[in-house]
Amino acid sequence: MVVFSLVIINKAGGLVYQREFNSGLQKISTNDYLVLAGTFHGVHAITKSLTPRLPAAMGGVTNPNPTSPPSGIETLETNFFRLTCFQTLTGTKFLLFTDPVTPNVDNIMKGVYERYADFVMKNPFYQLEMPIRVEAWDRNLTTWLKGR
Ligand SMILES: *[C@@H]1O[C@H](CO)[C@@H](O)[C@H](O)[C@H]1NC(C)=O
Repeated sequence: MVVFSLVIINKAGGLVYQREFNSGLQKISTNDYLVLAGTFHGVHAITKSLTPRLPAAMGGVTNPNPTSPPSGIETLETNFFRLTCFQTLTGTKFLLFTDPVTPNVDNIMKGVYERYADFVMKNPFYQLEMPIRVEAWDRNLTTWLKGR
């Protein structure tokens, strides 16, 4: 199980964080990451609006269904890596790049989000939607994700 990198996209589709924790992926430029963030943001929104509405006859379930709200694309996979997306209620997206056989990406995502809540959201100097430059978060995350 390898976690290659993490990308965080703000609710407007802007790249606010990108870090590599284990090597394996080829390097791409910051500009490519900016394009990836914006493009993924758009594709996510479109796939979310594709969520089918089930006719009431089919079990009486219609979307938006509060127990299973529409979600955009959640995973993308190639032969060499898997991209898993988690979107918070406020619209921030966490994209985790792992190897394709990593089990329990959900647990890793949960750990990333907990650390984000502890180190970034509780940091009085962090301005929402702005690039994340919080050393303690980098350190904690790196210690935890390196060598996983
Ligand atoms: C990282 O932060 C979490 C809380 O979010 C804490 O439980 C853990 O001990 C921290 N790890 C290190 C190495 O500081």
